[in-house]
Amino acid sequence: MSTGHISAKRLALLLGAWRRAGSRQGAADLAAAIELQVLDGQLPAGTRLPAERELAAELGASRTLVVAALERLRESGLAVSRRGAGTWVTSPAGRELEPAIPESAMMIDLARAAPPAIAGMMAAVDAARRSLADELGGSGYVDRGLPVLRERIARRYTERGLPTTPGQIMITNGAQHAFALTLRMLTGPGDRVLVEQPTYPNTLEAVRAAHALPVPVAIGPHGWDFAGIDAALRQASPRLACLNVDFQNPTGWRLDNAGRERLGAVLARAHTPTVFDETLVELDLTDEAAPLPMAAFAGDWAITVGTASKSHWGGLRIGWIRAAEETLAGLASARVGLDLSSPVLEQLILAELLTDPEPLRKRREWVRAQRDALVAALREQCPDWEFRVPGGGLSLWCRLPEPMSTRLAVAAAGHGVQVVPGSRFGVNGGLERWLRLPFSLTTDLLAEAVRRLGIAALSVRRLPGAGEELVVT
Ligand SMILES: Cc1ncc(COP(=O)(O)O)c(C=O)c1O
Repeated sequence: MSTGHISAKRLALLLGAWRRAGSRQGAADLAAAIELQVLDGQLPAGTRLPAERELAAELGASRTLVVAALERLRESGLAVSRRGAGTWVTSPAGRELEPAIPESAMMIDLARAAPPAIAGMMAAVDAARRSLADELGGSGYVDRGLPVLRERIARRYTERGLPTTPGQIMITNGAQHAFALTLRMLTGPGDRVLVEQPTYPNTLEAVRAAHALPVPVAIGPHGWDFAGIDAALRQASPRLACLNVDFQNPTGWRLDNAGRERLGAVLARAHTPTVFDETLVELDLTDEAAPLPMAAFAGDWAITVGTASKSHWGGLRIGWIRAAEETLAGLASARVGLDLSSPVLEQLILAELLTDPEPLRKRREWVRAQRDALVAALREQCPDWEFRVPGGGLSLWCRLPEPMSTRLAVAAAGHGVQVVPGSRFGVNGGLERWLRLPFSLTTDLLAEAVRRLGIAALSVRRLPGAGEELVVT
């Protein structure tokens, strides 16, 4: 029955601040928080939950409370127990939706920041199908990727002001795969990896999966903290850093050229190889000249990771690494024990898509319209949520009026919106005042999602207007 188990410590970390402030319904709060993680895919069906006593200790709650929460999950069909054996998560797929969700309404997914496929995809598939004929006589294992694709990706870097040859490019199965490969090559168990805080949750997952330790450096109210990065590099001596300076996920910040120069100098002094995750770089919604790629400032310490997932489509599962040729040789060896090369047809499709910049220009326009629609809806429905309108990327990083992100995410699921609480973007949870809201859905869905979020937020606020000064006249 079991497909895996989760430790009490890890579950407590996932659950974050699960108890609503001042709530007397601890068991309900805990059950709702676990349910959110199931709906969010963090606790897949078949996962064995920790023993009640351990979980209670880790959560600082009574065992009775944990027992009651599990009982609720069983009643709602989200868990099953076998006497003496334990409790497992079951699939929520067949379950009736909560009554809070109107029958007509479906769950709106604001957990993912990923747009649909770019226009022209089917034409590119047809063209790629024709060029596939030329590849069929070969083995299909193309070590670092198809030359035609590497050449087009290299040309794009050169256009962006960073001269690049196809020999500096290796094709991967997406950015996540590229990062995992780099971790595999450069880190071992217990090594430290410097990351931003907040950061993309799957960056943290990859670091943990490599049995390395993430060392967070906070992104402040004005962006990157160079002194903090410098200090962390000196004190923690990380084997690797991973930074996302092009419309950072989730904050949306982009580092300017002056900042890049400072950051490059800090990293070069420490001799720390650094992954620059450029996943969102092509979703530039400004009319300004783009800064130079970070690799122009960090030289051979830079390992740049790119992907077609946000610019064209996540379903292609094609990404790449731009690095010095000897670094690529190491990565190619690291890859042999994992997978041997990337699918040929998808590479041909992307090579075809890269010949025409027009659909990407239209995509930027579309994303800009969705961003503006989300901003307008939030200003109307949630006027006390604060955010900076980012110049690119796919999400707003909202400061909530209270530390309530996990509670809000739980309540939002009950109102038909899936969101990822702020705690998932931090190394050790926290970030309860923050919520990431992607703008990769259509305007209508975004407006409906914000309407539901507004209602959910009201249901979890401690007091209307809490935190405001009481003015006595
Ligand atoms: C910052 C960042 N890195 C990596 C990824 C994963 O990209 P891919 O789909 O290419 O693996 C994402 C996806 O959302 C992302 O936002």
